[in-house]
Amino acid sequence: MKNKIYIFDTTLRDGEQAPGIHLNVKEKLEIAQQLSRLNIDIIEAGFPISSESDFESVQEISRAVKGRAVAALARANDRDIDSAGLALKGAEQPIIHTFISSSDIHLRYQFKKTREQALEMAGRAVKRSRQYTDMVEFSAMDATRSDWDFLCRMFGVAIKNGASILNVPDTVGYALPDEFSRLIDHIYANVEGIEDIILSVHCHNDLGLAVANSLMAVQHGARQIECAVNGIGERAGNASLEEVVMIIDTRKKDLGVYTDIKTEEIVRTSSIVKSLTGYVIAPNKAIVGKNAFAHEAGIHQDGMLKDRSTYEIIRPEDIGLKESKLILGKHSGRHAFIKRLEEIGIKIREEDLEKAFERFKSLAEKKGAINEQDLRAIVENEMREVEEYYLLKDYKVKSGSNITASSEVEIEVNGEVKTASAEGDGPVDASFKAIDKITGMSTTLVDYAIEAVSEGKDAIGQVKIIVDAGSSEVMGSGISTDIVEASIKAYIDAANRLKAGS
Ligand code: KIV
Ligand code: ZN
Repeated sequence: MKNKIYIFDTTLRDGEQAPGIHLNVKEKLEIAQQLSRLNIDIIEAGFPISSESDFESVQEISRAVKGRAVAALARANDRDIDSAGLALKGAEQPIIHTFISSSDIHLRYQFKKTREQALEMAGRAVKRSRQYTDMVEFSAMDATRSDWDFLCRMFGVAIKNGASILNVPDTVGYALPDEFSRLIDHIYANVEGIEDIILSVHCHNDLGLAVANSLMAVQHGARQIECAVNGIGERAGNASLEEVVMIIDTRKKDLGVYTDIKTEEIVRTSSIVKSLTGYVIAPNKAIVGKNAFAHEAGIHQDGMLKDRSTYEIIRPEDIGLKESKLILGKHSGRHAFIKRLEEIGIKIREEDLEKAFERFKSLAEKKGAINEQDLRAIVENEMREVEEYYLLKDYKVKSGSNITASSEVEIEVNGEVKTASAEGDGPVDASFKAIDKITGMSTTLVDYAIEAVSEGKDAIGQVKIIVDAGSSEVMGSGISTDIVEASIKAYIDAANRLKAGS
């Protein structure tokens, strides 16, 4: 048995059937061209009879995308097949993908056909498709809920009439991996002529088993997997292309098979599909989720810095990502903090490091991920050489449209904790007055400026002030995600500078 696994992409057909996705001809062509860069084997470009735009998309892709097989879907009737044949006219390797249900549930309740009628339709459909192309794929819809022997009979009819690919869809994502593998074995053991056929699988993800079932089928002889980029498709979607491909690539020695996919194009393909379909990708989605190569826990970051094989089984560059990310957050350790400072060119003195790291941890606790601007602000603040005679311990403010603002501030003064309260014209003014009570300062605020040093609603704000203390003017600065806290810190910083200068 050959070891190559054909990747049949159905993003533009089953993927586009996902609720809310509407791709126009231009968008479908853009995706098809990217699939071609990905070195896909087969692009299922659409279902030509279903709409004018689907017909046009199949036609455009057939004309424009060379070096790939292009497939078009058709139910088992003449109109569908003729429409698919016509739309595929310009394709170098056209495939008509015709289907009919094989399960009694579908035949009885949906199509109102007997098994015998279904067999007859399957045979006719494949035969008619062969008038347009030598490559005909036949799918037995709802195969996994069908009577296995009847399914094998249907496949036998399809082969006799000229099908070269037989597809086993798990249409409603119902199969269990072990059961699915036994079905594949059963087909190999009971369908005459199967040895000359490519057996394909098309698994839906209703129970989250689409990828596992596809892989199981490969281990039992299937040689084509139908899948969609980012796993999009009807309901819970199809087997996700990037997962299928990267499993095969990562475990090729154990699986003994390979694909021809250019894995370095995976990220680009995923992001084009994401932006054109508007279907967002969960951050923890395997392979293409934004956290799939991101590490936050200190112990993981430490391992990654020593050797990335400790916590990564795929090299990010293998799927087209520049690098893994060490996320600086509340779980990060000193190593990652220092490494990131180095990366962004910040030098910090040994003696400032501990305090900067503490400041970083407390900020990360409030803010989550800490970015480069945040880091710069933290370090800049720590590197200023002012002795902290006054140290903010806590504060509480009350303010509102109908109450006078008040503040209670707790400051450690030379080792002793002191508390004072005051009212003022807003929470910042009230806090400054409370600080004055503790420090005994009497100052005039000359300048007050606030600036966001990072982006987003939870950005760090940096407050810079200048106060006139009678004999001299001093500046103070403070950072926090809370502007009142940043202001209090700036004022205490100014108090420390005055103290240092006195
Ligand atoms: O899920 C399914 O059964 C299908 C067929 C048309 C192959 O999409
Ligand atoms: Zn499907």
